[in-house]
Amino acid sequence: MLIDAEDVGSVERVAALLKAGEVAAFPTETVYGLGANARDGKAVARIYEAKGRPSFNPLIVHVASLEAAEEIATFDPLSRRFAEAFWPGALTLVLPLKDTAGISSLVTAGLDTIALRVPAHPLARRLIETSGLAIAAPSANRSGRVSPTTAAHVMADLDGRIAAVLDGGSTRIGVESTIVAVTGDDVRLLRHGGVSRGDLEAIAGRPIIADQPVVDDAAPISPGLLTSHYAPKARVRLNADDVRADEAYLGFGPVASEIGSQAAAFESLSERGDPAEAAANLFAALRRLDRPGIAAIAVAPIPQEGLGEAINDRLARAAAPRS
Ligand code: TXA
Ligand code: MG
Repeated sequence: MLIDAEDVGSVERVAALLKAGEVAAFPTETVYGLGANARDGKAVARIYEAKGRPSFNPLIVHVASLEAAEEIATFDPLSRRFAEAFWPGALTLVLPLKDTAGISSLVTAGLDTIALRVPAHPLARRLIETSGLAIAAPSANRSGRVSPTTAAHVMADLDGRIAAVLDGGSTRIGVESTIVAVTGDDVRLLRHGGVSRGDLEAIAGRPIIADQPVVDDAAPISPGLLTSHYAPKARVRLNADDVRADEAYLGFGPVASEIGSQAAAFESLSERGDPAEAAANLFAALRRLDRPGIAAIAVAPIPQEGLGEAINDRLARAAAPRS
């Protein structure tokens, strides 16, 4: 069921569904999440069921504030500085789980750490506050598909499998949150996302090395970071500076439309070559180009600046050999 966020009482309706143990999708500033009460194991199981997600893949828990997060996990000083700098926002922190947190072990997939985030989107914030819940929410797509940045994307993947989608329009950032784990002196960037590496380094006061792209899918560091993860149905060809007639072209920058005019279909991520604009358009453009008759999606090179790292990470996964 699609619920328009503009309707009177819309957030209250979705909050009531979550409190009753249902799963419902809602917008965050990164992508749409598929939410359930993180303290209700049966409700969390419904997330895995709806997504068709392997159950070893732990979920991010969304809370209202740093204070609420501190009831669930133990913060080291640098993680607290990251939280103060970027929350509410597109940063997820992996932290030691407190015994007293009461979070379902299905959320953490049995790990002794938990991924936490305070979202910035006003609807996500109202939903957390109105329900009074800690909300476990992975991206609201079928497992292995690209993340949804509109309510229509959620419906295309999950209609009939979930109780509701709160429709709040397109998400602003368009790629998932950045995931960071601090252990002692070690800061690990587990997933590139809406907060850039440079932003993190400015707070940490030192360089942060990103974890190598996961090659060994048998033992990924962050279990969700499987090599082939953000997969459209069509094959994806990276760093393309030309295109074949049976390919779609995903362009970037001012020259893209010339190449695009020779393609079977064309989308521009950002005509002015802005990585943040490109991130916001990425998943919707991939979904539009991924249609029958398209042999492959050829993608223009994207510079590794700002959110460019997150975009290239998602594109590399989309292009990875499928299992
Ligand atoms: O922007 C986002 O992060 C969105 C919105 C809805 O908040 N959520 C999202 O969730 O992208 P999901 O489930 O698609 O990705 C969560 C990632 C997975 O790669 C998972 O393996 C990792 O977080 N993760 C969760 N708990 C973890 C933990 N304890 N240690 C390491 N990685 C963890
Ligand atoms: Mg996901």
